[in-house]
Amino acid sequence: MKAYRADVLTFQGQGVEASAHLQRDGYLVVGQSRGSPHPIFLAVGDAAAVKQQLIDGLGPEGDVDWASIPCEHLPGKILAPGFVDLHVHYPQVDVIGSPATGLLPWLENYTFPQEMRFADPAHCAAVADVFLQELMRHGVTTALAFATSHPASVNALFERAQQAHMRLITGKCLMDQHAPEGLRDTTEQSLLDSETLIQRWHGVDRLGYALTPRFVPTCSEAQLQGAGELAARYPSTWIQSHVAENRDEVAWVAQLFPKARSYLSVYEQFGLLRERALYAHGIYLDDADRQLLAQTQAAVAVSPTSNLFLGSGFFDHAAAERIPFHYGLASDVGGGTSFSPFQTMLANFYAGQASALTTGQRAKSALTPQHLWWRHTAGAAEALGLGGVVGNLAPGHEADFLVLNPQATPLLARRVSQAQTLDELLFAMIVLGDDRLIERTVMAGETRGLI
Ligand code: GUN
Ligand code: ZN
Repeated sequence: MKAYRADVLTFQGQGVEASAHLQRDGYLVVGQSRGSPHPIFLAVGDAAAVKQQLIDGLGPEGDVDWASIPCEHLPGKILAPGFVDLHVHYPQVDVIGSPATGLLPWLENYTFPQEMRFADPAHCAAVADVFLQELMRHGVTTALAFATSHPASVNALFERAQQAHMRLITGKCLMDQHAPEGLRDTTEQSLLDSETLIQRWHGVDRLGYALTPRFVPTCSEAQLQGAGELAARYPSTWIQSHVAENRDEVAWVAQLFPKARSYLSVYEQFGLLRERALYAHGIYLDDADRQLLAQTQAAVAVSPTSNLFLGSGFFDHAAAERIPFHYGLASDVGGGTSFSPFQTMLANFYAGQASALTTGQRAKSALTPQHLWWRHTAGAAEALGLGGVVGNLAPGHEADFLVLNPQATPLLARRVSQAQTLDELLFAMIVLGDDRLIERTVMAGETRGLI
């Protein structure tokens, strides 16, 4: 058991009701519990609350020798939940910043050629290391990541994430059409490979498997059907894909499925909308789609740096408040430009401001600093179906947390010292923060790195 003493950032509530709380000079107690295979938070809050939680959780007062718990005092630091990245492509580390006129040429000219390199297992392992290091440096402790269509790319990422004790969910990209030789898979083998990977990795330590149909245009009907069948057979697996990101892509899907009510409804038709299904972007949705997301509990991974960089469009936050469904924030590297959750939260704010100008509808809460932060931590965990497990500092949650140093840069220190409210403090960190603000990333109770 170990205690940390500093200011402690936590979240309460859901959706528009979500809010943050900063406990000045609080405690975070980490340890093992019989109910969990991983280290968890045993107690969080001010000194009195923490003592009571330990007594409640561990037995009568006599059993808890408060004075004997080692305590690391971190004055001036903030203990915060690890960030949750709901959509990121590990094979696209070397695609970041590739200039293109939009999604489809970007895929063809930059992304597919880079992904072909993952036919080489040595390349998979080397990039997996870089990818996980970047996530950790930026304070991301849970990620839902695309691999490539090569099973070796999935094995490489799982092997390294397991060593790092990261909560990492990934899967083999399914793409049996409209993709180049060297990346295109075959229907039957792709489904067999997916099932083999599920059986090898899903639920091992902190790892999870995601069925990964790339997007409608690269998957035959038989492949989508097979993915839906696996999703039903393995209900605790995740599903990840893309939806309604770009106008040309939406038009292409309408050509491929002329009878479908919408792009999103194609996934419904194949049994791919359910809890633990995450669809990146969701820009060109209508209200019927939003209702479908709400009914099925499928979620959207909002990827603002990518949407701005590729000129895809703006996620409509006001509409998502009118018809609420689960969504959270994502880097979408390499369409996205940064691993940093601060960059993603700031881009989401900019995109929301721009979207409000074009639609005339302003979101009530989605663009406040507390809410931006919630959508990248506890709110993102809810969208993943991991609410109560990761994304917050509360008793019973897995012990993933960050030590933030608001003195990390001269400008940040100056600005933060003048913050009068929690919103001002959080916004200063969102706008001025980068990897230097993340002093330490703790996963499963330990500061982690790759050997
Ligand atoms: N749609 C299909 N594949 C991709 C991808 O790799 N990135 C993005 N942003 N959209 C996609
Ligand atoms: Zn993506």
